Amino acid sequence: CRIRHYNFNVVMKTTTRLCSSKPIVTVNGEFPGPTLYAREDETVLVKVVNHVQYNLSIHWHGIRQLRTGWADGPAYITQCPIQPGQQYVYKFTITGQRGTLLWHAHILWLRATVHGGIVILPRLGVPYPFPKPYKEMVVILGEWWKSDVEAVINEALKSGLAANVSDAHTINGLPGPLKTCSSQGGFRLSVKPSKTYMLRIINAALNEELFFKIAGHQLTVVEVDATYVKPFTTDTILVTPGQTTNVLLTANLSPGKYLVAASPFMDSPVAVDNKTATAILHYSGALSTTRITPTVPPPISATPVARRFNYLLRSLNSNQFPANVPLKIDHSLFFTVGIGLNPCSTCVRGRRVVADINNVTFVMPKISLLQAHFFNIRGVFTDDFPGHPLTVYNYTGAQPTNSMTMEGTRLYRLAYNSNVQLVLQDTSMIVPVSHPIHIHGFNFFVVGQGVGTFDPKKDPKRFNLVDPVERNTVGVYSGGWTAIRFKANNPGVWFMHCHLELHTTWGLKMAFVVDNGKGPNESVLPPPRDLPKC
Ligand code: C2O
Repeated sequence: CRIRHYNFNVVMKTTTRLCSSKPIVTVNGEFPGPTLYAREDETVLVKVVNHVQYNLSIHWHGIRQLRTGWADGPAYITQCPIQPGQQYVYKFTITGQRGTLLWHAHILWLRATVHGGIVILPRLGVPYPFPKPYKEMVVILGEWWKSDVEAVINEALKSGLAANVSDAHTINGLPGPLKTCSSQGGFRLSVKPSKTYMLRIINAALNEELFFKIAGHQLTVVEVDATYVKPFTTDTILVTPGQTTNVLLTANLSPGKYLVAASPFMDSPVAVDNKTATAILHYSGALSTTRITPTVPPPISATPVARRFNYLLRSLNSNQFPANVPLKIDHSLFFTVGIGLNPCSTCVRGRRVVADINNVTFVMPKISLLQAHFFNIRGVFTDDFPGHPLTVYNYTGAQPTNSMTMEGTRLYRLAYNSNVQLVLQDTSMIVPVSHPIHIHGFNFFVVGQGVGTFDPKKDPKRFNLVDPVERNTVGVYSGGWTAIRFKANNPGVWFMHCHLELHTTWGLKMAFVVDNGKGPNESVLPPPRDLPKC
């Protein structure tokens, strides 16, 4: 099989947005970074050389990494960081996946500027299960901060809830023509009348779930998170950080310019949309007619729009791409996800905002968990993560009197090849927030979603076990729940966390340790020689 080689030189690059310039961390001087192309079954080698003064690691978000956890990338979970002046070659094979994913830095908040697309084409000669588009384009949604990332993290660790709002959203790195002080104009999608294009839309933003929309046009969704879905048509899509969505767009309106918009999914009725990023869809030959129509559902209707969109997402479930939903469950887990407050003597109000899963705020270890697991190093983690909340979960809508969490580096152990059902319940404590939860090393099926408190008697009866969407990141509605299923067929240590970087920083994360199987091809491969040291 073919091997694809990439060189990622991580360098500072002075970049101007919103009328001010600052040096940012980039791959090869590009923002967003280069797109990585490969075909299904190919092996990819990415040599990452760290020329900046930060520790680094890069994650290939959504790549299964069967038995190759060493190449997964989250710092202190599967590897120690690549230190300044050092390098590391990520090597992995793409198995059973095709579509769009993303890569991003997985340490501190460097993902703000260190990210790019991954395009996995089908094997040579294998067509898409939908009409071949005339052309394809990668569309990366992101955020821009005027201040430095460390300043932003420190603010997140010290202050209250409303901190860390970015200064602009971006489409392919640009805030767009509607933003004052956007000297570069916006990204331009050039199309020919009557042709059909495939947009590979990626949300690489740190802290915002985003709606995406093109004035006047319908979008046909064909794939999410590198899995095919039953095509459906909609005028608005929702993409959470870490998610990807491929849509077909036909340039079938009268030639002109149309506004493309990405704006935050605001759960909170008090939130005001002031950060819409825009780009221009430009029909070739069209001169001046600009059409601008309202582009975002107003905040109050955002949750219904999101729910409707998620409801329409179904696996393609064809003969060639069946949805193999686990039916017999070995581990039935219930995790609450939410925000808490812990005492803090150095903090502004004497309390520190934390986030937790089952009331555990995850503490990052000093060496990587995968190394600790592989080499049997004791004292790095425990495998007693609670499979259910320790105090009975019964959310009444009132703020809890005790919002404190426990701290620990606790993992949950899964038997190799066992079937897992996991119900994620947002506790909505302190503030209502929605959480895009990402699991490394697996795709999972989203068998059910709802608002309110999960009912273990009624809700499972309505699970979709036939054609649920398969993905690697899924939103849990504010004050609602999401049920997922997956087969633990990938040995190693796999991070699970909220993909809002703010919540990850506050501790909304944990990891699964999946035992080796008994067969010769069922255990974690030995680490590569150049694996970074802590
Ligand atoms: Cu896209 Cu653990 O991240």
